[in-house]
Amino acid sequence: MNSGDKTGQGQERRKRGGACVVVTGAGGGIGAAVAKRLHADGWTVIATDMSVEALEASLTQDERMVFASLNVSDKEQIEHLAAMLNAREGGVAGLVNIAGVLQDVKPLLEMDQEVARRIWDVNYFGAENCIKALVTSMIAGGGGSIVNITSINELRPLPLHSYAPSKVALGALTALAAGEFGPRGVRVNSVAPGFTLTPIFRGKLESGKRDAGTIEDHTAMGRLVETSEIASTVSFLIGDDASAITGVSLPVDCGWLATSHWMNFRELSAA
Ligand SMILES: NC(=O)c1ccc[n+]([C@@H]2O[C@H](COP(=O)([O-])OP(=O)(O)OC[C@H]3O[C@@H](n4cnc5c(N)ncnc54)[C@H](O)[C@@H]3O)[C@@H](O)[C@H]2O)c1
Repeated sequence: MNSGDKTGQGQERRKRGGACVVVTGAGGGIGAAVAKRLHADGWTVIATDMSVEALEASLTQDERMVFASLNVSDKEQIEHLAAMLNAREGGVAGLVNIAGVLQDVKPLLEMDQEVARRIWDVNYFGAENCIKALVTSMIAGGGGSIVNITSINELRPLPLHSYAPSKVALGALTALAAGEFGPRGVRVNSVAPGFTLTPIFRGKLESGKRDAGTIEDHTAMGRLVETSEIASTVSFLIGDDASAITGVSLPVDCGWLATSHWMNFRELSAA
């Protein structure tokens, strides 16, 4: 068995050569920002999404931005993509699991388990499928880096009774995979976005389902997160600057986790 490159230098060598990073959900708000940032960093980005229309609407193809249709819940599709990348690109150095589905807010008693299973099939099993299909190629190439996009729901579950547990589980998978693949040169980390200004989230603000002012009032930095800020964090964790970091979940939330519970201390609002 290849013991991998324990310093991450192999990964840096391949980065300079435009090595491949697979991004799932690359047609979405966060996915497109991540794909653009990794492309600017010099990686060859395999931008995948189950909606090719979404890819075409948000990204421009070139020789280092390659579109591929991929439903992450379909193991055969990801295994086929992995075989194609091994043959044509000489393997894969990185994977960013972004494909995800949200849910409507509902009481637990009204949550339909069929809906819950569909959410888990993408948010948890989709990421697991991609890790299993691509990690062997990373190990064979001397190492690699995987970033899973979870959510602040991973660290403090919000009332999303299927979505939040799927993200908690993905955070646990991050640590487990980090332990298993670390000795073979593959780092695995999570980025946990807070309320991020994607088109879908802007829609929730416009429809009144979420209130920007309330979120800002309970966030240390008094603002919401830009998609470019998730992308720059992924860029750091994928690349060699994070060569000693594995098994962590890094919140990118403008300090919402730090201060959202301060509302319980009423003296503070008087100050
Ligand atoms: N926007 C936020 O505030 C926020 C906060 C925390 C976490 N997140 C997470 O970030 C990720 C991206 O969120 P977003 O806001 O950009 O959402 P989005 O809906 O804009 O993007 C999600 C993308 O995933 C794709 N997708 C859905 N199911 C898929 C499947 N089975 N296979 C492949 N692709 C599939 C969709 O086509 C879409 O392009 C999600 O995992 C989400 O849970 C978002």
